[in-house]
Parts: sequence; structure tokens; C-alpha cells
Amino acid sequence: MKTILSVVGARPNFMKVAPLHKVFQQHSASIRHLIVHTGQHYDETMSKVFFDDLELPHPDFYLGVGSGSHAQQTAKIMIELEKVLEAQKPDLVIVVGDVNSTVASSLVSVKLGIRVAHIEAGLRSFDRTMPEEINRLLTDAVSEFLFVTEPSGVANLKREGIDQGKIFLVGNVMIDSLIRYREKARRLSVVGQFQVNPRAFTLVTLHRPSNVDTREGLEKILTIFEELSTRTSTIFPVHPRTRKMLEQFGLSQRASAIKNLHLTEPIGYLEFLNLMDQAQLVITDSGGIQEETTFLGIPCLTLRENTERPITVEIGTNRICGLDVELIVRRSFEVFDGKAKRGSVPDLWDGHAAERIAEILRKTI
Ligand code: UD1
Repeated sequence: MKTILSVVGARPNFMKVAPLHKVFQQHSASIRHLIVHTGQHYDETMSKVFFDDLELPHPDFYLGVGSGSHAQQTAKIMIELEKVLEAQKPDLVIVVGDVNSTVASSLVSVKLGIRVAHIEAGLRSFDRTMPEEINRLLTDAVSEFLFVTEPSGVANLKREGIDQGKIFLVGNVMIDSLIRYREKARRLSVVGQFQVNPRAFTLVTLHRPSNVDTREGLEKILTIFEELSTRTSTIFPVHPRTRKMLEQFGLSQRASAIKNLHLTEPIGYLEFLNLMDQAQLVITDSGGIQEETTFLGIPCLTLRENTERPITVEIGTNRICGLDVELIVRRSFEVFDGKAKRGSVPDLWDGHAAERIAEILRKTI
């Protein structure tokens, strides 16, 4: 019997571990799978709802680290996770994505001599001002198994001198979850709550510090909403960081006054998938949503200067816009005028990535 311990912490982690958990359950005679939740995200809407929607069991360990500066958060995770690892002595630790929980868990594991598998390895924005880029570089450097979603990731890892035998192009576990739950999500009636019609609304998510942590950035975002309000209804589930910053800069009232803009609390996995699948346009600065919209064939404008997921631009529906108000409004109007960018689905984004990962791990650990 081998023990595999997966770590989750923040919202984009849960849908990546869920398909792995389901595959490991099918091998429960030879694999004991434990889930640790660091508590990086703790609000019900940022965490519990995802466990429910994705049919994940209650985590075996909850570290309760909460928010803080990068050093505080990373250090707390390391201190608390070390205790769990010493007691459970797993044969492998799985980390996913690029959040602080990912890098903290990989560092503490490797220092205890436990092998690390990184899911979503190799992605690079080449922008070291992003905390996630530092998390990706460090996690990949200490991981033994690097599971990659798209060819650019393989090229990046090879260029960084990572042994080719550690790199596996397996596809995208987040798309495994999307495929599994798409039908269930479709059966919900979410658009009605916002009094919008399918294919006649824009869905927005924005939470990157580079966009929302400055007054100038937030003011540009509100100007975009004001411009779009003449042509579309916009649904904007507001991330806690963004809500905090809107309040801090005294911009909440200006946001609330924009017509056709529906500001809501963060939305759970199934409801959000329902909205994405029916949107006419998605505007985001999330990493995962660039991939999900490419899979769904929904036009996506990314409010960043770069992407670590270039395949979504090369063959998918994604377009990089920075925070250029004029460009974003123009490209949005192109979509409303029926001139959206069309795309195709990357290889191996087929719902079976978790099975491929489990097969490789079962043979090697
Ligand atoms: C984190 C990840 C980011 C990911 C995002 C998804 C890092 C460095 N960043 O950013 O890569 O795209 O999650 O959501 O790991 N807060 C709450 N309730 C919560 C969680 C956070 O109110 O449940 C508030 C707190 O004020 C906190 C702030 O949001 O200080 C930021 O949370 P944090 O986890 O530090 O970073 P995110 O911006 O969520």
C-alpha cells in the first residue's frame, strides 16, 4: 500500500485534485489517498462550495493558515504541513497549480526526502513580478514528476535543464473536471437569477494584484464596464481581494451605479461553469479560465500583459489585452458584432489526464 498525499489551498486547486481523487479511489487496494487543505482560502464561497460541487470528501487534514503576507502564509503552511508529513510519511506529495500553497508544500516535502509530483508544471509567463511565476519556477525545480498540460511547458522545462525523464505531457486535469460536470452544470438555471439571456451577457472575473491593487487599475476596469454597459449585461462575481480594494479606494459606489452590471459574491464551481458555457464573452485575468473558455469555445479577453498558457492564444479563443481600455472595448464590440475569434481544443484535453497521471505514478512509486 502506497500513501499519496495531495495538497489543496486556494480556489483554483480544488478542480485539479478532484479527478485525481476519483481515479485513486478506483485503486484503493494499492493507494491510500490523503487530502490536505492548507486553508489559504477559507470563505465558504471560495472553498467549501467547491468540495460540495466536485464531490470531494472532507479533507483529511485542515491546516487553517488563512491570509497574510507571502512570507507569513508560506511559512505557516510549511510549519503545519511538516507535522502532517512526519506523522503520515507519504510516499509522494502531489501539488497543483502555482499558488503559495503549492510552493510551500513542495519545499517542505522535498526537504523531508519525500518525492513531489507537480500537476500543471512547466507553464511560464516570463514575468517574475507575478508571485505565481516564482511559485512555478521553484516548485518545478524541486519536483520529481512534472505533469504538463501543453507543449510550451515541455519546452520550458527542457530549457531550464530539467531531466527529460521527469517530464510527462498528460493533458489538463482541470478540463477533466469540466467535462465531468458540464452536463450537471447545464441543468442549473443560473442566468435567470441575473435576468440575462444565454449568449447575451459578458462574464467577468478579476483579482490579479497587478489589476486590482491600484486605484488606477480599478478605475480603468470600471471605465471598461461603463463602456460595455451600452451593449451588454455583465455578470461580475467579485473576488474578496477585489472587493476589499474597491472599498479601500472608495470605488464601490461608482461600481454599483453602472447599469447592466451585476456585482455578486464569488460563485461556486457548477454555477460558474453554467455561466461560462452560456456567455457571449468572458473577460478575465485568471489562468484557469483562459483554458476553460478555450475548451468551451467561448471568446476570452485576458486582462494581462502575458500568459503562461500560450496554447490558448495560439489555437484557442483567448486574446491578450493588457489593461488597455480602448483595445478591450474594441475587441468586446467585435464579439458583440459577431466577429469573435474562433479556436480549437488542444491535444489531450480530453477528460482523461488524471488517468494518465495515475498510471505513470502507479508504475513508478
Ligand atoms: C490566490 C493565488 C492566485 C490565484 C487566486 C485564486 C497566490 C500567491 N495567489 O490569490 O494565484 O489566482 O488565489 O483566487 O497564492 N480572502 C478572503 N477570503 C478567502 C481568501 C482570501 O477574504 O477565503 C481575501 C483576504 O483579504 C486575502 C486576500 O483575499 O488577504 C488575498 O488572498 P490570497 O490567498 O493571499 O491571494 P488571492 O488574491 O486569493
